[in-house]
Amino acid sequence: MNPYIPHPVTIEKIIQETGGPRPIKTFRLVFLEDELRENFTHKPGQCVMVNVLGKGESMFAITSPPTRRGYIDVSVMRMGKVTTALHQCEAGETLAVRGPYGNGFPVEEWKGKNIIFIGGGIGLSPLGAVIRYMLDRREEYGKLTVIYGARSSADLCFKEELREWKKRNDIDVHLSIDVEEEGWEEFVGFVPANLMRLSPSPDNAIAITCGPPIMIKFVIENLVEIGFGDEQIYTTLERRMKCGIGKCGRCNIGNLYVCKDGPVFSYAQLKDIPEAL
Ligand SMILES: Cc1cc2nc3c(=O)[nH]c(=O)nc-3n(C[C@H](O)[C@H](O)[C@H](O)COP(=O)(O)OP(=O)(O)OC[C@H]3O[C@@H](n4cnc5c(N)ncnc54)[C@H](O)[C@@H]3O)c2cc1C
Ligand code: FES
Repeated sequence: MNPYIPHPVTIEKIIQETGGPRPIKTFRLVFLEDELRENFTHKPGQCVMVNVLGKGESMFAITSPPTRRGYIDVSVMRMGKVTTALHQCEAGETLAVRGPYGNGFPVEEWKGKNIIFIGGGIGLSPLGAVIRYMLDRREEYGKLTVIYGARSSADLCFKEELREWKKRNDIDVHLSIDVEEEGWEEFVGFVPANLMRLSPSPDNAIAITCGPPIMIKFVIENLVEIGFGDEQIYTTLERRMKCGIGKCGRCNIGNLYVCKDGPVFSYAQLKDIPEAL
């Protein structure tokens, strides 16, 4: 797909994931062009620019995996102009999408490895693409562990799917909320603390993390303390973007462009760039 050209999509369905002052909705987008509907593909961790006609465009991680064809899902937190306009849309409306952008996670290289996903809030969206991909190709990967938290139980994304994953015996899901709630039976505390409590083994493992910057910082510190090497830790970064293709210089960290070189980076790539994390 030519990354400069937006293509029309229709909103097939909308899921209200969370409420509160910054609600999150998941939009299922279906390409109107037959060719794209059948052949559009991406790597888990890649993003698309979604254009709300007349309002502007914004970058979002594709949260559906490339193993599920015919649509893409994006989960969107309401922040400002474009995301508010998107949240006001209804099923059946038309948007435009260009992409996919970015490098995505090197899932091919990780075959046979144990994968630990550590996410906070909407950070489960890019991680979700990898989790779903690996569940669809389950025999190709080792142990899968999800360590995910949000401020409260209402702020957890993909609640229905989390419930399904918890019932499976081929993926371990450990949830947390920041503050005690009546009826909550899992961990209470921040995600980095839950990671420390669980201390997954770094042997033959890759850890990938996404969430608020402060969470990512402490998660990486804890992974290093547990014994993960710099090449075993991956994250996906968000920076304000404009062109999405390495031309405008808006998204650089050090000598890297998040849009062109990322958004997925290993800790080995980021650890010496002070403004990266
Ligand atoms: C690679 C990448 C992947 C992303 N994936 C997702 C995703 O899956 N889901 C999702 O909800 N959002 C995602 N974002 C962030 C999303 O693009 C922004 O929230 C969106 O562009 C805001 O647009 P707006 O017009 O609604 O807000 P604006 O009116 O432009 O801004 C509203 C507020 O949001 C802040 N803001 C805007 N963009 C960003 C940003 N990139 N990072 C931090 N703060 C920002 C502004 O500083 C301002 O305070 C991603 C961003 C990048 C770069
Ligand atoms: S968004 Fe333009 S260079 Fe990255």
